Amino acid sequence: MKVLIIGSGGREHALAWKCSVDDFVKKVFVAPGNAGTGSEKKIENVFLDLNKNDEIASFCISNNIDLVIIGPEDPLVNGLSDYLQSKDIKVFGPSKGASQLEGSKTFAKDFFLKYGIPTAKYRSFDNYQDSVDHLKTISYPSVIKADGLAAGKGVIICEDHNAAKDALEYIFETKAFGDAGNRVVIEDFLEGEEASFIAVVSNDQIIPLATSQDHKAVGEGDTGLNTGGMGAYSPAPVVTDEIHDKVMNEVMLPTMKGLKSEGFPYLGFLYAGLMINNGEIKVLEFNCRFGDPETQPIMLRLESSLTKLCLDAIDNNLGSHEIKWSKMHSCGVVLASGGYPKQHTNGMRISIDNNFDANVKLFHAGTKKENEEILTSGGRVFCMTALGENLEIALKNAYNSIPNVSFDGMFYRSDIGKKGLQND
Ligand code: AMP
Ligand code: GLY
Repeated sequence: MKVLIIGSGGREHALAWKCSVDDFVKKVFVAPGNAGTGSEKKIENVFLDLNKNDEIASFCISNNIDLVIIGPEDPLVNGLSDYLQSKDIKVFGPSKGASQLEGSKTFAKDFFLKYGIPTAKYRSFDNYQDSVDHLKTISYPSVIKADGLAAGKGVIICEDHNAAKDALEYIFETKAFGDAGNRVVIEDFLEGEEASFIAVVSNDQIIPLATSQDHKAVGEGDTGLNTGGMGAYSPAPVVTDEIHDKVMNEVMLPTMKGLKSEGFPYLGFLYAGLMINNGEIKVLEFNCRFGDPETQPIMLRLESSLTKLCLDAIDNNLGSHEIKWSKMHSCGVVLASGGYPKQHTNGMRISIDNNFDANVKLFHAGTKKENEEILTSGGRVFCMTALGENLEIALKNAYNSIPNVSFDGMFYRSDIGKKGLQND
């Protein structure tokens, strides 16, 4: 069997690696991949233009690809899944219509309202003046979000009126997020602890995956700008059995039903970003894909086959699928380029000692190989991922391995998993 993974981040390295360990998988292609995917057994990088659905389909047909897994949101929102399906290629990833749940925050919030899914109160605006006028009616802190895709960076938490006005200027006038900022959502600030609830969904069947918690802010103690995610661990003790049931009944099942009645039956990873406060849950956002960096620690804990899971979902067979998890805990610490999530310099030389313990796995993200050297090529460069008998040991295993990697400007958060340790 041959698999194609679309994307180039840490998530895609983890997905490709997990598929490659199946005996029945002969080859995994990653488009375009990174230096990490390029150096794994059975994995090969291929350069395909991710904006050209027909080029990707032609590759699949001429290489007899049996399964395509789409990692990032952009190709999903661009209708790659619909296109490949129309060519009878087996693809795991939601349609363009269903991906609006991530592609437009206004679509998502209106959807939550219509189907009674708990979320923060909000209003949506398509121009600067109306949004600024609305500021007079709200209290602070408040949250302003660019409507479209902004790589996890389009959310601004505003402490007061002036900060909110600046944020609106930044989005509408400076066009900091381009067309993704043609609309904004202004919503109430929610207190609590976050968790990522990710499931495999096939129409009206669902298998929730192991729970996890991301760390969105760049700085220690959740301070500073939002990033794509600076580290994650699994399981997340904040998702108790009771919360788990509540999320399934109040969020996941109504979402699947709602999508179906909107004419967008879902196939793919479905990710609810949650705020949990005193037993109450609210949805912060939906993603139509696996989380990055959540994928990396979750894949280390998945004992059964990811390839089979995706194929069963495509074949509407999740009902009989048995998923197996390791009892171990896992975590991943993102090693980022100096300056991230703002401007950063790529092309830094990386030195890696690949002598890791068996329970440690270094997933690459923004790396590329050039003339036998590995160079940085993005804001998030690696995710040092590890297993342990408990969260404390998993964290120790990951942090102890970080000195094996170095490049100019490298930084990471030293408090990944701290909340998990407090909750345990
Ligand atoms: P989103 O892309 O909507 O998930 O937002 C990114 C991050 O911003 C979330 O993971 C939270 O840390 C934060 N955030 C978003 N919306 C809110 C909110 N209403 N209240 C508090 N924090 C929020
Ligand atoms: N880790 C957050 C995300 O994937 O959006």
